[in-house]
Amino acid sequence: MKERIVVEAKDIITRFGEHTIHNGVSFKIQQGEIFGLLGGSGSGKTTLLREMIMLQKIQGGQMKVLGVDVSQASHAQAQKLMRQWGILFQFGALFTSLTVLENVMIAMREYTNLPDWIIQESAHMKLSMVGLPTKVATMFPSELSGGMKKRAGLARALALDPKLLFLDEPTSGLDPKSARAFDELIATLRKTLGISVVMVTHDKDTIENVLDRFIILGNQKVRFEGSMEALRQTTDEELKNFLN
Ligand SMILES: Nc1ncnc2c1ncn2[C@@H]1O[C@H](COP(=O)(O)OP(=O)(O)O)[C@@H](O)[C@H]1O
Ligand SMILES: [Mg+2]
Repeated sequence: MKERIVVEAKDIITRFGEHTIHNGVSFKIQQGEIFGLLGGSGSGKTTLLREMIMLQKIQGGQMKVLGVDVSQASHAQAQKLMRQWGILFQFGALFTSLTVLENVMIAMREYTNLPDWIIQESAHMKLSMVGLPTKVATMFPSELSGGMKKRAGLARALALDPKLLFLDEPTSGLDPKSARAFDELIATLRKTLGISVVMVTHDKDTIENVLDRFIILGNQKVRFEGSMEALRQTTDEELKNFLN
């Protein structure tokens, strides 16, 4: 069977004014993978993620997501794409004036014509999928712990049953126990839902235990693409340093 590619970056060039962030960045993400975007602070990880979801323009190269060149996408194609991915940003705040359930319902109300009771049922299901107890549904974000907020954000990202999930530093700011629980949740979701996951992370445990493959960005390029196992075999001194 031919392997399906969900994201294909080809020779991506990104500049902010005179400042070049990416200078020929290429990689491919396979369907069903949990794929990491790694690299030092300011290496352009978040920017790369934003380019995948059409929040940031590229100055050169091509970014294809679910088979669509995002720079060339028509309005209809873009709308269709946005229904096929879920996003959890690093500081992706929930709407504080809405309950957790209402937060999860927003996208379904916007993008579907389903009757409200079905949307509600479905939102409850998403909350249980991410391991939140029923009572959380009627709570407000301010009443939740950091780990619960992340889970609620994840439930919201899963609202439209996405094929692709984008996460930016999902475990940052969590205590170690919540972080590992979140890691497990991501691995379980991939297994049960078969979704592909693209995440920016610098969490060592996440990198070791959850990612199938990743790229390491550095000096505007991809310094490495592959698995942790492959990285351990490297003889490149700079990459070895990255391991520590
Ligand atoms: N909208 C923007 N305008 C100007 N510079 C930006 C913008 N977004 C990001 N940058 C710069 O691009 C570089 C990469 O940023 P970012 O992708 O957020 O890095 P990372 O997520 O790897 O820490 C940084 O130097 C940042 O200051
Ligand atoms: Mg970032």
